[in-house]
Amino acid sequence: MTYLVDLCIYIAYFLMSVCTVTTYSMETTIMTWDELITACNECKKCTLHETRTNVVFGVGNRTAEVMFVGEGPGENEDLKGEPFVGRAGKFLDDMLKIIELDRNKNIYIANIVKCRPPNNRDPQSTEREMCLGWLREQYSLIKPKIVVCLGRIAATDLIGGDFKISRDHGKWYNKDGIKLMALYHPAALLRDPRRRPETFIDLKELEREIKETCPNTY
Ligand code: URA
Repeated sequence: MTYLVDLCIYIAYFLMSVCTVTTYSMETTIMTWDELITACNECKKCTLHETRTNVVFGVGNRTAEVMFVGEGPGENEDLKGEPFVGRAGKFLDDMLKIIELDRNKNIYIANIVKCRPPNNRDPQSTEREMCLGWLREQYSLIKPKIVVCLGRIAATDLIGGDFKISRDHGKWYNKDGIKLMALYHPAALLRDPRRRPETFIDLKELEREIKETCPNTY
């Protein structure tokens, strides 16, 4: 009888350890860029795959020290398979130029969700949770020193707490050794130009921090 109880305890411990490893390996695995892009392009974890034209994986320098993260692709991005290529994207490029950042040179740009939500609605929390694993894999390959969240949704998911974009944009946060800041989303700046002067100040603060933290960006 004692032997049977011991055996059951042993089996329970064994199963618990296997489950822990499984959960961990689902969070981040060690993939190459090619493996990651192939897996992401085949993703069917949520229903957004049913309506996408292209997976919008990310663009930029794979060894960038600074990464920008938006919320999710719109129509132009879905058609082209590249983040921030519509009107808001052009405005983002202009913002980046002010502090000598360029998607073709010294930064990487991705989104929280990689597939376009229908009719440009906000990505739902389940879709965001399902998709965050891909961003984690991108983090582990790029190893950014600074992550800039573009807008409320990216900031809420990556910075967390009771983040409020109108109150907390331009502030620094630290998570697992990565410095995070949020800017107003470029689409919000197109809609409401009164927010642009604050964003200019945030960009100059970002530039200052990059010069201090990222020796290979400028
Ligand atoms: N808005 C985003 O958040 N991401 C894009 O890629 C385009 C628009």
